Amino acid sequence: MTCRAYAKINIGLLILGRRPDGYHDLQTVFHRINLFDQITLEPSESTITVESNEPAAPGDETNLCFRAADALRRFLGHEAGVRISLAKSIPVGAGLGGGSSDAACVLRHLPRLWGRPLDDAALSELALGLGSDVAYFLQSGSAIARGRGEVLKYFTLELPYAILVCTPAIHVSTAWAYGRIDVKSRPRQVDLESLVVAGMKDPSHLAELENDFEDVVFEAYPDIRLIRDTMRTAGAAISLLSGSGSSVFGLFERMGTAREVAALLARRGHRVSLTEPGFRPA
Ligand code: C5P
Repeated sequence: MTCRAYAKINIGLLILGRRPDGYHDLQTVFHRINLFDQITLEPSESTITVESNEPAAPGDETNLCFRAADALRRFLGHEAGVRISLAKSIPVGAGLGGGSSDAACVLRHLPRLWGRPLDDAALSELALGLGSDVAYFLQSGSAIARGRGEVLKYFTLELPYAILVCTPAIHVSTAWAYGRIDVKSRPRQVDLESLVVAGMKDPSHLAELENDFEDVVFEAYPDIRLIRDTMRTAGAAISLLSGSGSSVFGLFERMGTAREVAALLARRGHRVSLTEPGFRPA
């Protein structure tokens, strides 16, 4: 059984307050891009194994795919194992949700391989135990997320822009970035979904979008700000950090411009990926 685990970007990300459980309440729009890992699941007698082509995503029990399979097995009281092969294309720890998407892929498909289907509520519960972004990847479509990221409302977002994603060789710790946010100064009443939907018809609305991680991340890593500025100067309708970075994306009205900027950023040694306007995952 083989599946594609797509990457996401955050089209706007607002951090609204710290919660008693130590997490933060947020509001963000998750949107999938044309960049995916390929995951193969094969039955195995009793052990869970993970092989990965990416040294930064090792095949040990810290891998989120391993943890997803292990959590499923415990929940189901199941004896069998699985051999998981990961062909990674999504940069690791880069704000694109690669590990979360991989884990959701395992949660969605492994119960069927084991002949033990699970209902959506149980899957969402297991997803949240693995990470705040995992639940989004259990279903297709774009979504506005609230709470820790698990309160989701899915909607169809036809993005008429080319999406350029640029990932520098910098790792930003999400826990570090949350820890540096001054939440007290950030009470806001914004409806990101309407803002994003309005921005699909009129790019001028996109300028109102923000990612609250940008100040702390750009201060510590000026090279990431430079990527954002390069995209804006080159004509992006909007360019923002994705998640807590280090990836930055830009929405471009013309694919040709996006391609030129991609080539420029690649020449600076960054990883780039392009998603055509109107893209929908297979
Ligand atoms: O849930 P996840 O493992 O992705 O979170 C990584 C870290 O980011 C958490 O340990 C927490 O410090 C922080 N976080 C947060 N609020 C969220 C999501 C994550 O404070 N909504």
